[in-house]
Order: sequence, then structure tokens, then C-alpha cells
Amino acid sequence: MNIKLILIGLLIVVLGGFFLFKNNKGGKTMAGVNDNKKVLVAYFSCVGEQYSVGNITEGNTAIIAKIIANKTGGDLFEIKVKNDNYPRMYTELTEYAKAEMNQNARPEIVGKVDNFEQYDTIFIGFPIWWGDKPMPVYTFIDSYNFNGKNIVPFCTHEGSGFCGTQGMDKTGAKILKGLAIYGHTAQNDRTEADKKVSEWLKGLGF
Ligand SMILES: Cc1cc2nc3c(=O)[nH]c(=O)nc-3n(C[C@H](O)[C@H](O)[C@H](O)COP(=O)(O)O)c2cc1C
Repeated sequence: MNIKLILIGLLIVVLGGFFLFKNNKGGKTMAGVNDNKKVLVAYFSCVGEQYSVGNITEGNTAIIAKIIANKTGGDLFEIKVKNDNYPRMYTELTEYAKAEMNQNARPEIVGKVDNFEQYDTIFIGFPIWWGDKPMPVYTFIDSYNFNGKNIVPFCTHEGSGFCGTQGMDKTGAKILKGLAIYGHTAQNDRTEADKKVSEWLKGLGF
């Protein structure tokens, strides 16, 4: 009787250990869910005079895009327009952007993403302009087939957050949880920006 109990006890310990080991492995796999996914980080960003940060030589969104690419091992693609007439002064830029939006323009983009099909996950980053995505980002989205891929939106802003701009369902992609971060945090507090990006990416399984 006692031996039977001991054997049952041993069996429980062995099985328990086996399941713990299995779960632990599962946890590791969880953290590396995106290990074999090919990542592209596409972004639009402006330099010059920007709200609350003064005259900048590296755009707020560009800073975040580079942190993401660095942490995910993704390739960077800057969405640049062919005829870049964006004013370098803030007020003029807001007026120019508004006119572009009112026309529902699709400014032509410089270059193409090489071999777009290879990417499983595409981060798309932009500043919030008038509660929307800048028009060149629409050109970018219209230019590729996102069916079956993951899109991860991220934006910089100065108070309004995403404003619903992460809704890109029409692309046929799965839209993953995005990151909205203050432009001045990206520009002036890299430690905080890095921390926020890391936490967010961790939540996505990177
Ligand atoms: C044309 C324009 C419109 C903007 N509209 C908004 C807005 O609606 N909400 C907001 O929070 N910030 C707004 N901003 C602030 C930018 O989103 C913010 O400064 C952003 O970080 C700029 O990023 P960038 O340096 O990558 O271009 C606007 C800025 C510009 C130039």
C-alpha cells in the first residue's frame, strides 16, 4: 500500500516536471513568436520646425522607426515624396498638409520596397496630421498588397493619439496593436522612447 502511494507520488512528480518543462519551453517560444518573421519598418517623417520641439534635423517618427528596426532586425524604408515641397516652417507645413488632405492627394513616392512579398510584418509609422495620416502614407498603403500580412501601426503626435489612424483593415492585413508616442518624447527623451518601444514590442512577442 505504502509502495503504491510512493509510486503514485513519484508519477505525479515526474508528470508535473514534464508539464512544467513543456510550459517553460512554450513561454520561450511565446517571447520569440516573431523570431522567423521578416520585418519591414516603413515610415514618413518631416524635419524642420515642428510643434513643441523647435527646428529638428531628424524627424520624431524617424527616431522611433529606427529604434523599432534596431530591436526587431527589420529593414527600414523611408516614405519620401518625389516632389518634396513640404515647408520647413511649422505653420506653413500645417497649411500645406491641410490643402493636400482636402485634395485627397496621393503624392508620388521615391523608390519601391525591394521584394515586398518577403515581408510578414510591416510596421507603418507616421506623424498625426490634422487627426489623420499624411497623404504619402496613403500612397504607400495603396501601392502594395498587404493581404495575409501583419501591419503594426505607430505614430508620433502632440496630444491627439492615433485618432483612429490605425484602422487599415481595407488592406486585408491583420492589424496588430500599435504605438502612439509623443513627438517630443521621441525627440528629447530617448531613454523613455526606447523603454516605451521595448515594452510595446515585448507585448507583440518580439
Ligand atoms: C501638418 C501637421 C498637423 C498636425 N496635426 C496634429 C494633430 O492633429 N494631432 C496631434 O496630436 N499632433 C499634430 N501634429 C504634431 C505632429 O504629429 C508631431 O509633431 C509629430 O511628432 C511630428 O512628427 P515628425 O517629426 O516625424 O514629422 C501636427 C503636425 C503637423 C506638421
